[in-house]
Amino acid sequence: MNLPFAESYKMKMVETIRKSTKQERQEWIETANYNLFNLRSSQVFIDLLTDSGTGAMSDVQWSEMMLGDESYAGASSYYKMKDAIKEFFGFDYFLPTHQGRAAENVLFSVLVKENDIVPGNTHFDTTKGHIEFRKAKAVDCTIDEAFNSALEHPFKGNIDITKLEKVLNENPVERIPMIIVTVTCNSSGGQPVSLENMRQVRAVADKYGVPVIYDSARFAENAYFIKLREKGYAEKSIREIVSDMYALADAMTMSSKKDAIVNIGGFIAFRDKELQEKASVYNIMFEGYLTYGGMSGRDMNALAQGLREVVEFDYLETRIKQVAYLGNKLKEYGIPVLEPFGGHAVFIDAKKFLPQLPVEHYVAQTLAIELYIEAGVRGVEIGTLLADRDPETRQNRYPELELVRLAIPRRVYTNNHMDYIAAGLKNVFNRRHEITNGLKIVREAPILRHFTVDLERV
Ligand code: F0G
Repeated sequence: MNLPFAESYKMKMVETIRKSTKQERQEWIETANYNLFNLRSSQVFIDLLTDSGTGAMSDVQWSEMMLGDESYAGASSYYKMKDAIKEFFGFDYFLPTHQGRAAENVLFSVLVKENDIVPGNTHFDTTKGHIEFRKAKAVDCTIDEAFNSALEHPFKGNIDITKLEKVLNENPVERIPMIIVTVTCNSSGGQPVSLENMRQVRAVADKYGVPVIYDSARFAENAYFIKLREKGYAEKSIREIVSDMYALADAMTMSSKKDAIVNIGGFIAFRDKELQEKASVYNIMFEGYLTYGGMSGRDMNALAQGLREVVEFDYLETRIKQVAYLGNKLKEYGIPVLEPFGGHAVFIDAKKFLPQLPVEHYVAQTLAIELYIEAGVRGVEIGTLLADRDPETRQNRYPELELVRLAIPRRVYTNNHMDYIAAGLKNVFNRRHEITNGLKIVREAPILRHFTVDLERV
């Protein structure tokens, strides 16, 4: 008999979670103004809002916490982080920051100015926020295949080289401070970018003399997909693939809350000393001194250890198989999901789930609310709310896809939880025809509105 797949870790600490009744959840979500960010975590049974900072640290990471060096300058923890970054990504220079968006803030303070254009695959919302905040423009050059949710393509995070070249051709190169490659591409479904594509991006970047920055939150998951799907990489280790990926980048921003499996932390790493020096000024102003940048020593230690664990094939296999387990269950139930499944999340195609709702009703948000009421499972909308308004016209931007993201925290839930989530969604799916009204906005912030928006039922 073939041995079945089993997790590559066991548990030595647990946290109690509690169920609630449908009626309680109906009241709670109304009080929360139909914004899932407004719920208390105690009102949620299974929390799939994000895989960011929600992972379970290992025993070795916890022991590293005890070894944290809290010196203001020159802490050994800083050097542990520096060594890990050099070892895995090959960058000599780095700046710690308190999380990913802080890394963006610091780096973009150097690179991005008004009227600039920043091409890339679908920019994450904080990345786009930091670009637009500086009155510059993010141009999405993702391949068209990414927007067809049913289409099987191994690298839906890839950049369309023709689209990219067009941007570089049609604009003065001084206005293009960088190309951003997001690995994996969160906003288009946690989809990977192939090494071949990274090479093509590098070639275009070199032709025009534009730096390439990797938004690296889920770099190891991207490497896992390369190993499994890209010709010529099956025999390479994750470490080798990561190294090949980063040999093609000039710098990286990192949200360590994902693929460094820590609860808080981030960094920017650079090949170029001069750029690091320019960014240092902003790091000191916004984040903290150069050898801690908003992180405690213990957090830097856990981060360095997290990088070591995340590039282990067994870890990645356990993680990504769990995501696929949920995806396959949903598929079995006939629920429209984005395929192939992403590395960190399963995305539900809300327009296909609720075709009767007009896009003005915030279809994906409506579905996310229904799932919460049904099962106490909290997902997140990746749709019109997240897409925000056009900064010039102030009109709603209606993205091609309205998605509900079910992000799976690392090393936290079991496959029984996955079964429970799938059953909850199946129940909503069975009564989908009864959902005839969506939501409308009552109040919203001028930027990144989805976090704080108040909604009510239409
Ligand atoms: N880049 C990507 C691709 C991300 O997914 C995120 C965060 C960031 C940058 C910003 O990092 O949160 O540490 O400031 N994504 C989280 C999510 C919030 O839920 O997908 P941060």
